[in-house]
Amino acid sequence: MSGTRKLHIKSFGCQMNVYDSLRMADTLAPHGFVETAAAEEADLVILNTCHIREKAAEKVYSELGRIRKLKEAAAREGREVRIAVAGCVAQAEGEEIIRRAPAVDVVVGPQSYHRLPGLVARAARERVVDTELSADKFDVLTPPSRDKTRARGVAAFVTVQEGCDKFCTFCVVPYTRGVELSRPVERIVAEIERLADAGVREITLIGQNVNAYHGEGPDGRPWTLGELIRRVSRVPGIARLRYTTSHPRDMDATLIAAHRDLACLMPYLHLPLQSGSDRILAAMNRRHTRGEYLDVITRMRDARPDVALSSDFIVGFPGESEEDFQASLEMIDLVGYAGAFSFKYSPRPGTPAAAMEQVAEEVKAERLQRLQRAIDRHQAKFNAACHGRTFDVLFEKPGKRPGQLVGRSPYLQPVQVMAPAALIGQVVPVTITEVGTNSLFGALAAAPAEHTEAQRDPAPVARHDSSANRARRSGAAKPAERNDIVVAGA
Ligand code: 5AD
Ligand code: SF4
Repeated sequence: MSGTRKLHIKSFGCQMNVYDSLRMADTLAPHGFVETAAAEEADLVILNTCHIREKAAEKVYSELGRIRKLKEAAAREGREVRIAVAGCVAQAEGEEIIRRAPAVDVVVGPQSYHRLPGLVARAARERVVDTELSADKFDVLTPPSRDKTRARGVAAFVTVQEGCDKFCTFCVVPYTRGVELSRPVERIVAEIERLADAGVREITLIGQNVNAYHGEGPDGRPWTLGELIRRVSRVPGIARLRYTTSHPRDMDATLIAAHRDLACLMPYLHLPLQSGSDRILAAMNRRHTRGEYLDVITRMRDARPDVALSSDFIVGFPGESEEDFQASLEMIDLVGYAGAFSFKYSPRPGTPAAAMEQVAEEVKAERLQRLQRAIDRHQAKFNAACHGRTFDVLFEKPGKRPGQLVGRSPYLQPVQVMAPAALIGQVVPVTITEVGTNSLFGALAAAPAEHTEAQRDPAPVARHDSSANRARRSGAAKPAERNDIVVAGA
């Protein structure tokens, strides 16, 4: 191992990539790599890419143009910089990336991150491409040190499942992330115990199709996500649980019962619908109807009346008529989402829908605007209804103004409150006094919250935040950019 080298990782796309970026940094740390937020001083730049929509992939190539200039400038000073492309574009395009961007030294797919140190070493002699899909990286990826975990804040993400077997006709995930793979319960629990021990209070279990989770339980049989959540809820120090992203078909009885029974499971469900039209849902191969989706929501609301919902919608899927589109608008009104992400359909090479008859770009753009107006209306209504309510808030870090802290409501809204720094890492009742565009504002409440969350063993507190977490949280504060708090999939 040579001396210390600087590592800059830039994450694109969803929360799964943010998690993977942290794990790549952890895996490279024992080999002398120290993270830097400044790309221009890095010896190794990793772009962790997203392929879910065309725009996301194109962003990577424009970023590579910028990084190539940094590499050339460093070379003029006699310093060697290596560029690695990781993530779903790496998986989907492989060697094509090096053909299109010859400055790239390493192309590494999401299943091969445990081999990164070796790949980077080999890059001194040759260009390296590793996009093998088979390995189980979870067993071999290096866990972060306790200090590093503390520095990353009080809310953490844990991958429990990766890949997808659903093959929706618009989606690249089954091709880039491979078949569904669930981690065994005990490994997940051990990771969460380590996080809790370092001061983490909130865990979001993530996976492209998280509620298809079927990892091996301690009794040797496959456990459901509901069973896993019940087990994880008993880890001392963990006050809050979330999970994302779910598929409507996989909302089974154990998961709904977990919502009924566990106060620490947050009453906020991201459940992508994609389209409100049964005809389009069938063409998308979503394997459920709008009626079945509404039925899931009824069961969820029966189990947990304070649950709020969010969703993903695609407009302009091949063959979508005005009538089909109206059905999506109708579902937005029927469900009354607290928020939702919406996208113009983007043909992904190799997926079945890319070969279907396409909807004109202007039609897509116009529908997207109308859909977003409907979503915004419901989101504003949901936020306005929070005024005067008392929620439990998990304080995460100092807020915008001196003396302020910022935390999260059960519904993931950022809440700014005048509060002492000692409350970072604590779940505290807050009364909402003002509803802003990007945040709620509140005051520490004298009375308990409407639904008091389970609070055990308040753990020691992390007081500062890594750049990756900072980026995630500041992005998450703006509804327009909230996509990075979910996982592309389901
Ligand atoms: N075009 C547009 N949106 C897409 N999504 C996935 N694939 C595509 C595509 N080809 C959206 C879906 C998914 C979210 C993560 O991205 O709404 O739920
Ligand atoms: Fe799987 Fe979700 Fe993609 Fe469908 S949209 S193939 S469920 S990841």
